[in-house]
Amino acid sequence: MDSIITAKDIRRSFIVGENTIEVLKGISLEIPRNAITVLRGRSGSGKTTLMNILGALDPPTSGQVFLDGEELTSASEARSSELRRTQLGFIFQSVALVGMMSASENVDFALRIAGVPAQERAERVHECLSLVGLGNKGAHMPQELSGGEQQRVAIARALAHRPKVIFADEPTAELDSLTGLQVVKIFQEMREHTTMVIATHDEAVAAAADQVYEIEDGVLK
Ligand SMILES: Nc1ncnc2c1ncn2[C@@H]1O[C@H](COP(=O)(O)OP(=O)(O)OP(=O)(O)O)[C@@H](O)[C@H]1O
Ligand SMILES: [Mg+2]
Repeated sequence: MDSIITAKDIRRSFIVGENTIEVLKGISLEIPRNAITVLRGRSGSGKTTLMNILGALDPPTSGQVFLDGEELTSASEARSSELRRTQLGFIFQSVALVGMMSASENVDFALRIAGVPAQERAERVHECLSLVGLGNKGAHMPQELSGGEQQRVAIARALAHRPKVIFADEPTAELDSLTGLQVVKIFQEMREHTTMVIATHDEAVAAAADQVYEIEDGVLK
């Protein structure tokens, strides 16, 4: 298998008051390139914790993560942040659009921080909004869009800078089943050049996955 991410013996504990909670207890996995990988597990099983570690948003207590052979877990904060801006994309469960920016400006913002030159940006913004079916809604402010449309802008924003890997945390949780299926279709179209790691309870998303990992009691089942 051609893996883009390799995780070795990931452990993550949290100290809460006097107690140490061990959430991840030694997880090793491979994320196949240009494929959809789904992480499943009960609420509280550690899916978000694991995705944040794989996406260099949070360090593990121990263990290693490699992105295309480069160790993320020993990278400096500056390097991690550069990788997040340029090679990784994130879609969060609660849509995090900037309320004072239109749909187009939200997507453009991700391109600006990834360092994409101005002359390329307008076309790229339109291309990404069109891909999620919102080519005619670029001028809308977030509050002038439905929840599903906002989620699709967030997807357009996550893929605009052409990241190698997109991490999506429950991307369809707040969508009706039809809109959820549209989002799954977008993911399937993206799979040709993008690796996706998706934490989900949604059977329709899991059905579209190339690889499913199930977390239980801190380990993979
Ligand atoms: N910063 C933190 N401090 C203390 N405990 C934490 C912290 N982050 C997560 N946890 C604990 O780790 C466990 C796993 O949380 P996580 O958010 O990864 O679960 P999840 O599988 O994503 O759940 P859900 O399906 O509800 O989103 C939970 O029991 C949670 O309370
Ligand atoms: Mg979660």
